[in-house]
Amino acid sequence: MGGIFAVVSRKNENVVPQVISGLRKLRFKGFDSTGFALIEDGILNVYKEVGWVDIVVEKLGLSERKASIALGQTRYATHGRPTAENAHPFTDCRQRIAVAGDGSIGNYEKIKDQVLMSGHKLQSRSDFEPPAHLLEESLEREDNLLNALETLKEKLEGFYTVSVLDRDTASIAAYSSMTKLYVGVSPNAFYLTNTLTALHGFTDHYIIIDPSETVFVTSEGVNVYSKGHETTPRQVLTLEVDPALVDKGGFPHHMLREIYEAPLSLLRTLYTLQEKYLQLASRLILGADNIYIIANGTSLHAGMVASYYLSELVGVSPVVTSAAEFPLYYVENIGPGSLVVAISQSGETGDVLSSLYEAKIRGATILGLTNYIGSRLARLSNVYLPIAAGPELSVPATKTFTSTLLLLYLVSLAASKESGRIDSITYREKMESVKSVASRLSETMTRMDEEVKKAIIHARNCRGGYIVSRGITYPLALEAALKLKEASYFHAEGVEAGEFKHGPFVLVEKGFMTGFIIPVERLAAEATYPLILSAIEAGASTVVFSLEGDEKLSQIQTETVSLIRTPRAERHLAPIAYSIPLQLFAYRLGVDLGRPIDAPRYLTKAVLR
Ligand code: F6R
Repeated sequence: MGGIFAVVSRKNENVVPQVISGLRKLRFKGFDSTGFALIEDGILNVYKEVGWVDIVVEKLGLSERKASIALGQTRYATHGRPTAENAHPFTDCRQRIAVAGDGSIGNYEKIKDQVLMSGHKLQSRSDFEPPAHLLEESLEREDNLLNALETLKEKLEGFYTVSVLDRDTASIAAYSSMTKLYVGVSPNAFYLTNTLTALHGFTDHYIIIDPSETVFVTSEGVNVYSKGHETTPRQVLTLEVDPALVDKGGFPHHMLREIYEAPLSLLRTLYTLQEKYLQLASRLILGADNIYIIANGTSLHAGMVASYYLSELVGVSPVVTSAAEFPLYYVENIGPGSLVVAISQSGETGDVLSSLYEAKIRGATILGLTNYIGSRLARLSNVYLPIAAGPELSVPATKTFTSTLLLLYLVSLAASKESGRIDSITYREKMESVKSVASRLSETMTRMDEEVKKAIIHARNCRGGYIVSRGITYPLALEAALKLKEASYFHAEGVEAGEFKHGPFVLVEKGFMTGFIIPVERLAAEATYPLILSAIEAGASTVVFSLEGDEKLSQIQTETVSLIRTPRAERHLAPIAYSIPLQLFAYRLGVDLGRPIDAPRYLTKAVLR
């Protein structure tokens, strides 16, 4: 994944400073390495290194370089750790083109094998290097970059953007399989990027390139093609962006941007995961004598959901525990047959790492799940799987939670297939349904947010509250309560619905909030409706989170209740669907109460110790 920013001068002027300052606005797209492709005196040169833009510019002396056409990328590593070799851009064998990308190429392993078989040498483990060689092969057959890109579209699967700097035609070309691209237009230059707000400060005019269209930018102009044919000239739009929001992609907080990004992050997770690693992970799960899932905070809640996945899909019952508890109370049971599944979005949480040392000493195998593949967790793991949600800059974790849930689901599904519990057709169908949940979440995001904005009146004046659910959505109640504390400083507790009347109910009255997540199972849902009525009767302000189409709820609407509906999803994907409105609720309440959303007091993104 990464931020892309390319500039073509219309007046043969140096554009390197502009590429540098464009990339600086793309921190939230990636920051582990930075790379540049420049045409200098007719030669294509690539400069790339590990680190954020300013570090790399300084280290490689980029400020001294001059080029009238240049392509830059900031990387977030998903395939291949953050190293200079794995940084973008990548060149073909003839140094004619340089390729920089965003997203994930789903069939990377296959195309990598193809280009190696054709005799190309790969310098990296990135999924965007093989496409440079596929383009090279097409260009050798026919010197036509547009046709070469059309052929590439047919060969690549996944959710990705490819941008190319071509020395021979002095052009930048690009297309995206799923997102929009933007070309800024000014009298002096054209700017190509995958993030609209990055154009701020360069030009107020831009055009949109829709998914699957190909754009060519030269000093002469901008041409857009659809299915190989040139389209009619684009409408030039006016850029309106609040300068204060540029570094957050136009959102007031990183947390909100990251919640809105979750559907795309789910697709990234899906396409980043390669079949061979899923198989490896499945075999570890199926071959283990005992399985421990260890994590902290939000990642621990994801682990709790995973225990349902593993027991229902694979028939194994892992022990799920806080990484802080593991070395104190569980290590005695750990031996060479144990599998420890360690989940940490940062990959740097102190308790997780020290638990892993203890487990490794005792001969356990480690399966790590992390959003940062350059982290220590990845290094300590026997096998690691990338969460691949993209950089998460807000302290309250949101899109990494939904992507972690998905990753755990995919691993459990793969183990289910490997064990013969489900066949390949069911497996494929279930993988496909992930895409429809992601697209439904994206379609309904704004509607959910509007419902949430209205619902926060039920919490704003309350002294605290409960989030109640059961079964596979009970960990979501714990997670929602955690998010309410972090983002809103609102005291909330997750309560298991069956326990509601066994004590917690005593606090329910006027001035107290009760939030209910309707369980996915019919019987469990039916057992929840009377609890909602009891809470309303006791005078509580009530918010109900339900799946779309729950007719029963229309009967219990009163002015003390708000209803927030998330897309209907099959049982195992429902926790993902529910996460979004719950996160929005914590966010909107935090905004309403004036909290420092992205940086809650005392908290850090990775709790080292
Ligand atoms: C929740 C949050 C924390 C983290 C916890 C574990 O929003 O930020 O509870 O989930 O500190 O962090 P990782 O997953 O990085 O190990």
